[in-house]
Amino acid sequence: MDAQKVKITTPKESSTYEIGIGSGLLTNCGAWAKTCLPSLTGAAKKIAIVSNKKVFGLYGAAVEKSLRRAGYKTCVWLMSDGEKYKDLNSLQKLLAFLGKEKLTRSDAILALGGGVVGDLAGFAASIYLRGIPVLQVPTTLLAQIDSSVGGKTAVNTPFGKNLIGNFYQPHGVLIDVDTLGTLPPRELTAGFCEAIKQAALAGGALFTRTKRFLETFDPRDRARIDKIAIIELIKGQVAFKAKIVAGDHRESLLRQDGKSRKILNFGHTTAHALEKVTHYQQLKHGEAVGYGLLVAGEISKSLGVLDANGLKSLKDVVKQAGPLPPLHNITPEKIYRATVFDKKNLGGVISWVLLKEIGQPVIVGDDKIPAATIKNAIRTILK
Ligand code: NAD
Ligand code: GLY
Repeated sequence: MDAQKVKITTPKESSTYEIGIGSGLLTNCGAWAKTCLPSLTGAAKKIAIVSNKKVFGLYGAAVEKSLRRAGYKTCVWLMSDGEKYKDLNSLQKLLAFLGKEKLTRSDAILALGGGVVGDLAGFAASIYLRGIPVLQVPTTLLAQIDSSVGGKTAVNTPFGKNLIGNFYQPHGVLIDVDTLGTLPPRELTAGFCEAIKQAALAGGALFTRTKRFLETFDPRDRARIDKIAIIELIKGQVAFKAKIVAGDHRESLLRQDGKSRKILNFGHTTAHALEKVTHYQQLKHGEAVGYGLLVAGEISKSLGVLDANGLKSLKDVVKQAGPLPPLHNITPEKIYRATVFDKKNLGGVISWVLLKEIGQPVIVGDDKIPAATIKNAIRTILK
């Protein structure tokens, strides 16, 4: 199957790269890498594959074989699996590995895995030798529609999630939807929550397409993923993200409009708070976003910004993504307090992304939202 293509350009960085989406693409990723990476005559190119044991066990052999067939030397570094390993310790180990393997600036990193692998590998690529090319080959739905695109890279720290990082665009993104066939149902639900985030921000055709897809899809039945439909859906999702990133690739502090990159944080103020109070153990990131979308919807409705129909549409589609794990023994007060320390806090004000209607985001400072409104919204969602 030929890959569908979406181009992403970030004019201020003079960077353009392509996102290829399709089925059966991994076995040809060596030839694809050649189209993405700068060709230096005489340079012995080496590609460091960064992955984890689980993902590499499933897809590593196909990727490595294809890279070698295309003439690349390869080396492999596998990180431990899990959000808690996206940290400075793993970063240091990866950088040491790149040094030991003597990667030069004419070599590259290929990130094979979910958002954890992609964020860590992308950050390492951005600082090793002051920057070497990175190729993103995302294998979770969340990474395919969101984290592999747009150049945000980061590691977590003891003082918060994603707090040390960089904006660093990849040289290319290859999305093979066949990898979704091995993804656990909860990971699919988590990915769909981020897809709903983007669909609710975009509105129109993307919202309808996402909703329609979910109407007939059961995350427990991943064997029945309609490949044509999911490729079209992912294409629409990354095209939306590419448009936002192209207009504001470094998430400008000055912009507060409905097309700024900040809107992609819809649902994330509560999501980060929930992840923090549950010690990053109870919820997948995308599941926390699912809750966050609902809280933002409730606040939007309470402030009279969003009407009842808009809130219902949002709630219905989040429900279709699959079950969110129950949240026991967490008070609204505790979650509220955690939102106040969100990293999006600028000058003491938290920017909440709310909805005027599906497809019309608005950014509102928490100095304009009564604390009781936020707490009530959280309480409603916890019920
Ligand atoms: P993840 O990377 O932890 O992957 C989830 C699980 O799925 C892991 O256990 C992984 O080993 C497994 N897995 C991956 N691919 C698989 C496959 N094809 N088959 C079977 N198992 C597979 O989680 P994620 O949801 O992909 O990413 C979450 C991370 O992404 C968070 O750290 C979040 O902060 C980050 N993120 C970054 C951005 C960005 O713009 N950079 C955006 C959103 C999220
Ligand atoms: N996932 C949010 C962003 O890329 O800006």
